[in-house]
Amino acid sequence: MRGDTNMEHMVETTIIVNGSPVTRRVPARQHVIDFLREELGLTGSHTGCEHGVCGACTIRVDGRIVRGCLMLAVQAGDRKVDTIEGLSDSGELAELQEAFHQRNALQCGFCTPGMLLAAHDLVTNRPDATRERIREHLSGNYCRCTGYHAIVDAIETVLIARRKKGKA
Ligand code: FES
Ligand code: FES
Repeated sequence: MRGDTNMEHMVETTIIVNGSPVTRRVPARQHVIDFLREELGLTGSHTGCEHGVCGACTIRVDGRIVRGCLMLAVQAGDRKVDTIEGLSDSGELAELQEAFHQRNALQCGFCTPGMLLAAHDLVTNRPDATRERIREHLSGNYCRCTGYHAIVDAIETVLIARRKKGKA
């Protein structure tokens, strides 16, 4: 956890979290990932390095994936923030979640929420991605367990299926 909890530096902000506006007074230096986890109880996104390296804290802001440990909660004000919880509930990640399950693309699961968001960004924006491109896209998301091969397999499976269905 990081963030200044000094009451002198509280700022009111409204963030659209998983489709619903949430207004809170937040410490000016609190990171959005800490706000989501500690203030809203959305603990699906994890904190690892807290320095923008591991990708565990990946969330989506205004449709683009960002590192929640590098953005302040106040910077997310008036913006749309989507977390693994919201995207799971909406079904947006269903194909990828099924493929990760089928391909055993997770072990401890610590990296998985961030991986899924990064993977979803790829299949949405790079439907023609090769295995090499998949690996490149995931290079900012660390996994300590799987060796990445099964994760790449899962994402490639979804890409191929979407191409066959004409979604891509
Ligand atoms: S916790 Fe944000 S990138 Fe590692
Ligand atoms: S499954 Fe354990 S860190 Fe990726």
